Formats: sequence, structure tokens, C-alpha cells
Amino acid sequence: MKHTILVTGGAGFIGSNFIHDWIANEAESIVNLDKLTYAGNPANLATLEGNSRYLLVRGDICDAELVRSLFEEHQPRAVIHFAAESHVDRSISSPDAFIRTNVHGTFVLLEQARVYWGKLNESDKQTFRFLHVSTDEVYGTLGEDDPAFSESTGYAPNSPYAASKAGADHLVRAYFHTYKLPVLTTNCSNNYGAYQFPEKLIPLTILNAMSGKALPVYGDGKNIRDWLFVGDHCRAIRTVLNRGRAGETYNVGGSSERTNIDVVHAICDILDEVSPDAAIGCRRSLIRFVKDRPGHDRRYAIDARKIERELGWRPIEQFESGLRRTVLWYLEHPDWVESIRTGAYLEWIEDHYAERLV
Ligand code: NAD
Ligand code: TYD
Repeated sequence: MKHTILVTGGAGFIGSNFIHDWIANEAESIVNLDKLTYAGNPANLATLEGNSRYLLVRGDICDAELVRSLFEEHQPRAVIHFAAESHVDRSISSPDAFIRTNVHGTFVLLEQARVYWGKLNESDKQTFRFLHVSTDEVYGTLGEDDPAFSESTGYAPNSPYAASKAGADHLVRAYFHTYKLPVLTTNCSNNYGAYQFPEKLIPLTILNAMSGKALPVYGDGKNIRDWLFVGDHCRAIRTVLNRGRAGETYNVGGSSERTNIDVVHAICDILDEVSPDAAIGCRRSLIRFVKDRPGHDRRYAIDARKIERELGWRPIEQFESGLRRTVLWYLEHPDWVESIRTGAYLEWIEDHYAERLV
């Protein structure tokens, strides 16, 4: 094997943060296989252009021949699999791409990894890892007083997105039990931070509030998510890759449960403080309660004691300081914001919110 890892979906939000983190902290090179869908943005990795440790390959994880040739040419020591369709609302309006990429794409990667791994010598076989990046949404929804999701919580996905990730998780598990492929799975809570595409709650709220637009809050705004700063997630993935036990799953969370309305209020207050605008006034006045998401999970919470106990990982960033850093990042990167506020983004905003925000 070579001194290289194969990353899929590295031009997206978490993947691009991961690649920056990896290049800064580890010695191996990265091959990034990304289809560059609406969510993939090479500008996230512009500072790595010309870096001999980084290569972007534009392509689809469903393309078995391409994946086979990448294994053969680059002989990676590990695969870190981020590539996915990731937005729940899109999975409700157009589920096809979620089944294709998240389920079939993961299958193609696993199958090509199995063939490649099968030909390695014994020592490289022991070293190789396939790390699958998944979500807490596979566990379904919690009531107010239910215990947080642990690794033994039963799967009960409620959206096409969650179901497609659950399908992928099951395939990953099966490749360990059936073929002994050394896999690892991480199930993480909601991430936030730099480079997140502004269809998700936090960046959408930041950008709308910056420009005085309505802030859509689904239902009563009391749904709860656990929030983790993306840098902490990237470090968790490196920790699991380096020290996790093959065949195991690790839940990753921020111990930061917040209602959506509290998150939106916090963003409004930070922006009023750091970027006051007399024409907009108090940003909280922009909030609009809109029609709820169908099948909207009420609460997610993560029990991260396993990764803490076994691997010594803990989140470092507090939610309030991480959110402030994130708001400042969007304010300080107007060119990045402008570059993604075109075509596919505008279409989505018009289609999805037109009726909700009349
Ligand atoms: P994202 O939507 O920002 O990025 C996904 C990336 O995958 C994009 O670069 C896209 O171009 C690429 N991609 C999509 N289909 C592809 C295909 N067929 N072949 C190759 N590349 C393809 O997603 P994200 O928020 O960065 O999430 C990354 C991973 O982490 C996903 O697997 C997601 O399920 C998981 N996850 C996300 C969160 C979160 O809060 N964002 C939380 C837990 C887990
Ligand atoms: P989102 O960022 O889409 O992540 P996920 O659905 O994976 O948790 O949504 C986070 C929460 O915010 C979720 O409860 C839905 C809610 N939400 C809104 O209230 N308004 C919005 O415009 C969006 C995109 C999400």
C-alpha cells in the first residue's frame, strides 16, 4: 500500500474540513473522489491547489470501474467515506438520488474495497481500514425524557435520507461479518462550521439574517438537535481511524442539545452584536414559523461515552463559541457565499420555501 488515503465526498462540508485537518495533522496524501454535485465545491479546497499531497478526482462512487482503477493506481491505506446526498428536505422531495448514492454507491465502494483488500499481503490487510461516516438520524427520534442514542439503540430511520444511510450502515456491517473487511462506522450528530452549504438550518439562518430575509422555522421550533462543531467531528474521525477497533461503531456528539428556535435566536443575537444594520433592525423579528417538515424527528441526542472511554475523544468547542466562530466565518467570506448563491441553490430556495414563506 502507498502512503495515501482515499476520501469520498471531500469537496462537501465535512469532507473539505476533514481534508484541511488531515493535511495539517497527518503525513499521508489524499485522493479525493467527488462527483461535485450542487453540494460539492472545489473552492472549499482552493488553498490546496498545487499541493503534492492532494489530488481531486471528479467522479461518481457508483462508477465501479473508476473506483477499481483508483484502488489499483493509488493503493490506499484507508478509505474515508463521506460521499452522500445529505439534506433531509431534498430526500423528501426527490429520494432517488439518496438511494443511488447512499446505498448503491456505498455498496460499489465496499465491493471494490473488498476486491482490493483481498489481494493485499497479510500485514497490509491488517493495516487497511474502511471508515464509513454516518449519522445519528439512523436511530429515529427521541421523546423528551428518553435516554440518548447509544451504539446499541435499534435502527428506526424516519426520512428517506435516514433510511438510505441506515441501508449503507447495514451493508458496511455485513462486509465485516461476511468478508472480514476491516470497517469502522461513526454515527454523528448535526455538524456546523465553515463551508456548510446554506440549505441546512445554521448557514441558511446566518445568510438570511445577514441580508434581512425571513428566517423559516419549521413547526413550533421546539425540535431538538445535538450540535457538534465540524472540527471536533474531523478529529473524532481521525481518532477512530487510528485507534478504533475494526468492526465497531462509534457514536459522536457534542453534548449540546438545543431547540431550533434557541439556535435561530442565538444567531440573530450574534449578528445584531457583530454586524448591526439599522435597515434590518432586531433580527429576531425576521423569524417566521412555517409549515412543518413531514415526519419531522422531534429530538436527537447522542451518548458518546464509548468513544470517550475507549479512544479518549471529547468535543473541545463549546456550542456558543463555535456558533460565533461560524457566524464570523460567513461574514468574512463574502466571495465564497456569492459563489454558491447561484443556480442550484437559488432553485432549491425558490422551490422549497416559496409556498412556506408566502
Ligand atoms: P455534503 O452534502 O456537504 O457533501 C457531500 C459531498 O459528496 C459533496 O461534495 C458531493 O459532491 C459528494 N457526492 C454526492 N454524491 C456523490 C457521488 N455519487 N459520488 C461522489 N461524490 C458524491 O455532506 P456533508 O454534510 O459534508 O456530510 C458528509 C457525510 O457526513 C455524509 O455521509 C453525511 O451523511 C454524514 N453526516 C453529516 C452530518 C451533518 O450534520 N452534515 C452529520 C452526521 C453525518
Ligand atoms: P437541518 O439543518 O436540515 O438538519 P437535519 O434535518 O439533518 O437535522 O435541520 C436542522 C433542524 O432545523 C431540523 O429540526 C429542521 C429545522 N429546520 C428549520 O426549522 N428550518 C429550515 O429552514 C431548515 C433547513 C431546517
